Amino acid sequence: MAFRKGRLEGEVPERVARYISSLEEDEEILDEVLAVNAAHLRSLRRMGLISDDVLERALGALRGFPREALRTADPRLEDVHMVVEEHLRSEVPEAGENLALGKSRNDAVSAAIRMRVRRFIAELVLSGTGLAEALLSKAEEYAETLFPLHTHEQPAAPGTLGFVLSCHASRLLKALRALASAYGEVNASPLGAGPVGGTSVPHDRLAIAEDLGFDGVVLNALEASSSRDFALAFLCGLLRVSLVLTDLAEELVRYVSQNPPLLDFDDAFFSTSSIMPHKRNPVVAEVARTSLSRVLGELVRFSVNVSRRFGGYVLDLQESTEPLWRAARWTLETLEAMAEMVRTLRPGPGAGTSIDPKTGLTEYAAWLTLTGRLTFRRAHLLCGRIASMLHSGASLESVEAYLTESGLDREAVAKLREFLEPRRVIGTYAVIGSSRPDEVRRSIGELVRECGELKAWATDRLRFEEERRARVLGGVR
Ligand code: ARG
Repeated sequence: MAFRKGRLEGEVPERVARYISSLEEDEEILDEVLAVNAAHLRSLRRMGLISDDVLERALGALRGFPREALRTADPRLEDVHMVVEEHLRSEVPEAGENLALGKSRNDAVSAAIRMRVRRFIAELVLSGTGLAEALLSKAEEYAETLFPLHTHEQPAAPGTLGFVLSCHASRLLKALRALASAYGEVNASPLGAGPVGGTSVPHDRLAIAEDLGFDGVVLNALEASSSRDFALAFLCGLLRVSLVLTDLAEELVRYVSQNPPLLDFDDAFFSTSSIMPHKRNPVVAEVARTSLSRVLGELVRFSVNVSRRFGGYVLDLQESTEPLWRAARWTLETLEAMAEMVRTLRPGPGAGTSIDPKTGLTEYAAWLTLTGRLTFRRAHLLCGRIASMLHSGASLESVEAYLTESGLDREAVAKLREFLEPRRVIGTYAVIGSSRPDEVRRSIGELVRECGELKAWATDRLRFEEERRARVLGGVR
C-alpha cells in the first residue's frame, strides 16, 4: 500500500493484514469518519491550504462515499481512515493528497468514536424511554391488580402489578439518566491534536470542534489522541441499564413460569420445544436475562485493552473500540425486544388469586400497635403464632379462639379477617411510594413526566446530530 512504501519493504500477507485491520468494526463509525474528514478539510480551507473549489468537490466526494467500499476494501489499507483517504485521492487528488496534513488517525479515530458514542447515548436513551413508556402504561392499566411482592424470593406482602412494573420503570429511568450523564464528558473534540503532541499545522481546534457539534476540546494533545477514559462512563451507564434489563427479564421468566402464571405475554414472545409439544418457553426474556453478562464482558475487555498503556496511541486501542459497539448494540436490541414484549403484557390467572393471605399479618401487627393494644414486638410475636397455626392447617375459628384466649378484645379479633384479605391490606398503606393503588397512580404520573423529559432530550440530541452532520458535509459556507 502506498503509505507504507517509503518506510517499509514488501507487503503484509493478506491474512495478517486482516488480523490487524479494523475495517469490519469501522462500519460503525463510517458516518462519523466522513464528518471528521469534512471538518478537517474545512479547517484546511480556513488556513488557505485548499481552495473553495477543492473543498466543494472534496465534500461532494465524501457525501458520495460508497458505503460498500469498506466491505470490499483491501485489508492492507488497515482501516476506514485509509479507505476514505484513498477514495478522496482518486476523486479529488488536490484534497486527498493532503488529507493527512495535520491530521493523524489517532486524533481522527478518537473524534469519530466520541461522536458515535454521543449518538449511541441518544439512541439508547430514546429506546430506553420506549420501554419505560410501555412499562408505565401497563403499570397504569394494572395499578389495582393484586400481585404478590417478594423478599428472599418468597411472598412477603400484598401489592399490585402496577406497583411492581413501575418499580422497573423507575429503575430504568434512573439508569438512562446515568447513561445520559456520560454525554458531557464524551462531547469534547480531540481533533487537531495530531498524532501525540500537537501539530505545526495551525488548526483552529475550537472551530473544528464547533463544526462537529462538540462542546469544546480535549485540551492536552497526548490525552486527546490516546485516552479512552471517556468511554468508561458510557459502558458503566450501559452496565446499569443492563442490570435493570436482566432483573426485569428474570422476573418475567419467573412470573410466566409459575403455576398458575402470574403474568402472560403474546405467543410471539415464546418458543416451543422441538420434542415436547406442550412447552411454551419464555425465550425472549431468557435471552434478555443475559444482558448483564454481555455488557460486563465487553466492559472487562474494554478496560483491560485500554489499560497498561505506555505513552500515546497503541493499536491495542483499536481492539478496545469493538466492545463499545457490541455492548451498545446488544443493549439497544434488548431494549427494543423487551419493549415489544411488555406491550403485550397481561396478568396471568395467578396474579390476584395466589397471594398468600398470611402476608397481610405485618399490617395486622401494625394495626394492633397503632390502636394502642400491644407493643409492636408483642404483636409481631402473636402474628408469628397466627402464621404458624395457619401454616399447619388450623382453621380461622381456632386461630380466633386462640386470640381471645390471649386476651385480645372482640374488635381486634374480628379485625384479623380483614387483614387476611390482600385487597384491604393494600388499602391501609399510608406512605408515599407505597403499593396503595392511588399512590401507585400518583407516582406513575411523576415517572411519566420524567420519561417525557428524557425522551425530549434524546430526540433533541439526535436532531442536533443530524443537523451538524448535514452542515459539516454540506456545501461551502
Ligand atoms: N484503526 C485504528 C483504530 O481504530 C485507527 C488508528 C490507527 N493508528 C495507527 N497509528 N495505526 O484505532
